[in-house]
Amino acid sequence: MYRGYPISELAENAGFEETAYLILKGSLPKRAELGEFASNLSGRMHVDPRVFSVMRELGTDAHPIDALRTAVSAMGSIERLRTVGEQQTSIEAKVSVLAANCHRVPRGEDPWEPRKGMGFASNLLQMLTRREASEYERWVFERVLIFYMEHDLNASSFTVRIVASTLADPYAAATAGLAALKGPLHGGANEVAMQMLLEIGEPANAAGYVERSLKEGKKVIGFGHRVYKKFDPRARLCKEYLREMLKKGASDDRLYRLCDALEKEMWERKRLPPNLDYYAAPIFHLLGIEIPLYTPIFAASRAFGWMAHYDEQVAENKLIRPDATYVGPSDLKYLPLDMR
Ligand SMILES: CC(C)(COP(=O)(O)OP(=O)(O)OC[C@H]1O[C@@H](n2cnc3c(N)ncnc32)[C@H](O)[C@@H]1OP(=O)(O)O)[C@@H](O)C(=O)NCCC(=O)NCCS
Repeated sequence: MYRGYPISELAENAGFEETAYLILKGSLPKRAELGEFASNLSGRMHVDPRVFSVMRELGTDAHPIDALRTAVSAMGSIERLRTVGEQQTSIEAKVSVLAANCHRVPRGEDPWEPRKGMGFASNLLQMLTRREASEYERWVFERVLIFYMEHDLNASSFTVRIVASTLADPYAAATAGLAALKGPLHGGANEVAMQMLLEIGEPANAAGYVERSLKEGKKVIGFGHRVYKKFDPRARLCKEYLREMLKKGASDDRLYRLCDALEKEMWERKRLPPNLDYYAAPIFHLLGIEIPLYTPIFAASRAFGWMAHYDEQVAENKLIRPDATYVGPSDLKYLPLDMR
């Protein structure tokens, strides 16, 4: 639920910018408010070429999510925006452009630019794929972005709050959020999930894969969630979208059957449901997006949630500083180096 609206309600009716406004400001926008918000966002998408230069310096081997994190950090030093609000809008607008280019630019290619007059989700999709997506594909991509936008105190948003609580600037907080997002137990899961699905290949191989993974004590990425123990409502919706995409795209439904077979196996063996990353991954795959860009896409949307957390934290700030209880020995005597 975002600010009182069930996620299914928003998925059915709202657009990305509308949902972002809701997350950031607390209520759905009126028409004029939405227009102003959307044009402000698209007007801030131009990235300073020096930020791309920093990205380029990282070279071909840089993982895209690392390149994105470094670019956001560099933006904090390069941009000279005065107010926190301007800095936040800049981050919200530009993380998408940087996410779309964090694979290309370190490889030495020119960045792909956003198009004028296009909505946030469609713009990101065209920068990622450089092809004309169908209306349904664009609609689905926008839903996935809406689902990725916010999820209370997940690891990256909590990280953002910790940094915000020191009163560091939004760039510092977003950079830290990106660092937390990278891991496969959090945002990195969508990339690992797709690699896994490609490795399994056929629905008939799903049972064997689960058997082997569990025997080796390995987690099956894309399953389980700290909050959702029975089902993840976002994953359920994405599963429907995946099926529909395959129907409309006239390709066979093997990918859907594979996802479904693995899901059934994991439920039978471990009572673990698939999470959003598990079903976002095959959707991105069908859209023709390269796997190392999946986590950066997550970041492009979560940047809005992060900034909402930033605001909420500083509005009633108290430094986040957990207590730890030391349980080791005490009153030890110092021994000089050559006596140890
Ligand atoms: C998301 C996640 C970290 C939540 O974990 P959690 O609530 O802390 O649950 P735990 O890691 O304590 O797991 C509880 C039990 O389920 C098992 N488990 C959890 N997720 C599992 C998975 N994906 N595959 C296999 N076993 C899993 C754990 O091994 C543990 O088993 P045990 O009690 O026998 O030791 C965890 O489910 C996970 O690592 N999932 C895979 C990564 C992923 O998809 N992340 C994206 C999250 S949106």
